[in-house]
Amino acid sequence: MAVLSFMLISFYLFLSYSKVSAAADTITSSQNLTDGNTKTLISKNGSFELGFFSPGKSSNRYVGIWYKNIPVQTIVWVANRQKPIKDLSGLLLINSSTGNLLLSQNKTIVWAATLKRKAQNPVLQLLDSGNLVLREANDENSENFLWESFDYPSDTLLPGMKLGKDLRTGLDRRLTAWKNENDPSPGNLTWAMQVDSYPEPVMWLGSRKVYRNGPWNGVQYTGRPTLIRPNIIYDSMYFNDGNEVYYMIFLLNKSKIVRMTMNQTTNSQHQLVWVEGKQNWFRAVSLPRVFCDGYGACGPNGNCNMKKVPSCECLRGFKSKSPERWNALDYSDGCVRNKLLNCKNDGFVKYIGMKVPDTTNSWLNESMTRNECREECLKNCSCMAYANSDIRYGGSGCAMWFDDINDLMVQPDGGQDLYVRVTASELENNNGPKWKIGVIVGSACVIISGMLLVLYYRGRSRKNPKGYTNEEQKEDLELPLFDLSKIATATDNFSMDNKIGEGGFGPVYKGKLEDGQEIAVKRLSRSSGQGLNEFKNEVILIAKLQHRNLVKLLGCCIQDEEKLLVYEYMPNKSLDSFIFDQAQRRLLVWSRRHCIICGIARGLLYLHQDSRLRIIHRDIKASNILLDSEMNPKISDFGLARTFGGDQSAGNTERVVGTYGYMAPEYAMDGNFSAKSDVFSFGIMLLEIVTGKKNCGFYSNNDTYNLIEYAWNLWREERPLELIDECIQETCNLSEVRRCIHISLLCLEQHPQDRPSMSSVVLMLGSDAVLPQLRQPGFFIGEYLHGGSSSPFKNSSPSTNELNNTVVEAR
Ligand SMILES: *[C@@H]1O[C@H](CO)[C@@H](O)[C@H](O)[C@H]1NC(C)=O
Ligand SMILES: *[C@@H]1O[C@H](CO)[C@@H](O)[C@H](O)[C@H]1NC(C)=O
Ligand SMILES: *[C@@H]1O[C@H](CO)[C@@H](O)[C@H](O)[C@H]1NC(C)=O
Ligand SMILES: *[C@@H]1O[C@H](CO)[C@@H](O)[C@H](O)[C@H]1NC(C)=O
Ligand SMILES: *[C@@H]1O[C@H](CO)[C@@H](O)[C@H](O)[C@H]1NC(C)=O
Ligand SMILES: *[C@@H]1O[C@H](CO)[C@@H](O)[C@H](O)[C@H]1NC(C)=O
Ligand SMILES: *[C@@H]1O[C@H](CO)[C@@H](O)[C@H](O)[C@H]1NC(C)=O
Ligand SMILES: *[C@@H]1O[C@H](CO)[C@@H](O)[C@H](O)[C@H]1NC(C)=O
Ligand SMILES: *[C@@H]1O[C@H](CO)[C@@H](O)[C@H](O)[C@H]1NC(C)=O
Repeated sequence: MAVLSFMLISFYLFLSYSKVSAAADTITSSQNLTDGNTKTLISKNGSFELGFFSPGKSSNRYVGIWYKNIPVQTIVWVANRQKPIKDLSGLLLINSSTGNLLLSQNKTIVWAATLKRKAQNPVLQLLDSGNLVLREANDENSENFLWESFDYPSDTLLPGMKLGKDLRTGLDRRLTAWKNENDPSPGNLTWAMQVDSYPEPVMWLGSRKVYRNGPWNGVQYTGRPTLIRPNIIYDSMYFNDGNEVYYMIFLLNKSKIVRMTMNQTTNSQHQLVWVEGKQNWFRAVSLPRVFCDGYGACGPNGNCNMKKVPSCECLRGFKSKSPERWNALDYSDGCVRNKLLNCKNDGFVKYIGMKVPDTTNSWLNESMTRNECREECLKNCSCMAYANSDIRYGGSGCAMWFDDINDLMVQPDGGQDLYVRVTASELENNNGPKWKIGVIVGSACVIISGMLLVLYYRGRSRKNPKGYTNEEQKEDLELPLFDLSKIATATDNFSMDNKIGEGGFGPVYKGKLEDGQEIAVKRLSRSSGQGLNEFKNEVILIAKLQHRNLVKLLGCCIQDEEKLLVYEYMPNKSLDSFIFDQAQRRLLVWSRRHCIICGIARGLLYLHQDSRLRIIHRDIKASNILLDSEMNPKISDFGLARTFGGDQSAGNTERVVGTYGYMAPEYAMDGNFSAKSDVFSFGIMLLEIVTGKKNCGFYSNNDTYNLIEYAWNLWREERPLELIDECIQETCNLSEVRRCIHISLLCLEQHPQDRPSMSSVVLMLGSDAVLPQLRQPGFFIGEYLHGGSSSPFKNSSPSTNELNNTVVEAR
């Protein structure tokens, strides 16, 4: 039936369409396209179609171009973006006396093309590239068009379309996002070529830059995002002959369908590839992707490095302009020089693998060598940095930057050398290769700050041998201090009725403040292992962390030996109360579970990498993930978190703290913890979310010892889908679930170095790229699992070891 009606429609389309013109893909001035009649114009090979359409939920009519062979309506160009037609009276025609292309309604002109020259006998044609052109009838093979839609892009860049400026005519081809999916009128997100002396494509939100691609360096745009796998489908290029400067994407595989589009809703540029097998668009790249991609993430003269924590640092010879704001993660003021340049005997520090700075204040000479460039830069006191403009053949050309350097970033793969000017005194300390100096300066900093820390804490403990008073607390924490009596009232004197859970270090109560705000109060049991130190740690940490996937600390209370933490109240309790509950689990459909997984991953990424302090949670588990009223996940319970500054990323602890069943082997066995042990716990939780089964206490009748082994066995036998929780089996997206299982097994690799970082996890969850091969999941191949006395799974049959218990064990 569906097939039949499809055939009928096609037949009808063919009929009505063939009435338009015998030439099949042109309209002449004696013909027209009228709305309310299914006439459209189709390109020769049938790839694109032009006609009237209504976007999304709107009933407004527009003339546009879309893919003919794609079932998902995908508009690539709109004529009358700002002037919708409200009914079906639209008419697209070529005016027989002027030769111009017009869109009219009731004799009023809604939209008109701007011709390059006077037309004689024009015809309108839709080319196979998606370009709508007006050309002379007798001029079929020339590119000498009277007008073409590629000169007036909407929100989409197709392969072969130019994005950039014609310097002779001033024509500026730029992408502008639709206001939203129901309204194609121009939003304020644009993608355009910034044509200064050293051109580069830039993304704007209104008048604010939000992302740069970096200029072309002969090989690629220096800030081009690194793709997880080599892109064999399309690539981008750069053209500049002094008359025209443009960016273009082109297909490497001609049989693929690719587009680049600006989206006001996501504030991103998406590069999408049509996947025939799935009959859907897949995002190959979305920009900006990471914190450092955001324009000026670290402010002027700051350098952004995703591999470092914190990611922002000042260039050498610079210090933060407003240290307080900088320390509070507000980098907008950036950095200033320690000492003003005296312009004599200055030198340069070489940075390797950089996305070069914003080219607004730059200067370019493509025939100079690097040494000439250096000399030229030294001559001008406001020259701050230089680089080769072409990195091929050992490097050539000279680009110089003046005054503040903006939007500098370490490009994880690729990038190029950049030389930043510093004073002679800054260089004096340096006798030897630059990298050595970096190490020496770096370790000196670590040692000095370590000493300072020790002194600081010594000083403090002398001052306050018994811990600190409320007075000092206030200064320290900048966090509201709640009065004990108020909290007692709010929680009905910590009544059993108000108790909502038992966390690692004590009970949690629900409460309601006088002003009606609902709170959750964590009351630290006096017998708990969490001493004043851990408490301080948790309070100070959480107070500094702000992320939508972290539970928010509203305040605390230290009074009469009571230690209380006051959090925002999460009405939906914790994740484990859903996934492991026979009734509740049905509410958690796959798409919701997927959102939760992604949210937790982002929260954890923030803890590991993006927050100012590097934080390892050390007790990631389903019961520590709380759900807000919209079921957004929030990571809670930072009592165990460890803070690190700088590069330190792993440690060894005397006390193993965490929950067996979620602990990474190296942590449970040897007390070695790192961000990768959190990744392991995340992997367990991911598996639990997909399977609806608990790892700790998991048992099955076929001789498997735990969920990981069970999952791994099914995976090896290529039956991973049998793992899926039966109540989501029907509704889930199988390829997404399969991907999640694969990612979870990657997180569960035995060796920490084989596990992905959380940033890779977030990338893998959000893309469609090929995932790495699995090696050896932790905790069942190692002999210590089935044997040794320290086996964490030994006592974990469901009857003997209650689940979710946090174990605190002195070693
Ligand atoms: C549109 O074209 C049709 C057939 O080609 C013709 O009958 C009609 O008069 C045209 N309308 C206008 C307004 O030119
Ligand atoms: C065509 O252009 C002429 C001259 O500008 C104008 O008078 C006429 O109304 C136009 N015809 C249509 C159908 O718009
Ligand atoms: C177009 O003209 C017709 C007839 O004159 C009229 O009924 C209709 O309301 C007009 N439509 C618009 C949108 O002006
Ligand atoms: C039509 O032609 C375009 C441009 O030459 C090409 O990219 C596309 O694959 C072709 N489409 C079909 C359906 O042949
Ligand atoms: C922008 O992205 C959102 C979310 O992916 C999507 O729903 C929307 O349709 C997109 N907007 C346009 C104009 O394509
Ligand atoms: C962009 O437009 C949206 C809505 O159209 C508006 O809310 C937002 O403030 C604008 N942003 C800028 C930077 O102009
Ligand atoms: C191009 O894509 C087609 C269809 O996806 C595929 O069959 C073909 O192998 C690809 N060609 C190359 C050279 O990768
Ligand atoms: C670029 O540098 C070359 C070599 O130093 C010089 O001859 C030429 O005049 C310079 N061009 C400009 C525009 O400065
Ligand atoms: C240094 O360069 C800036 C920017 O190009 C220019 O305005 C200034 O005149 C130059 N100064 C000297 C002394 O050449």
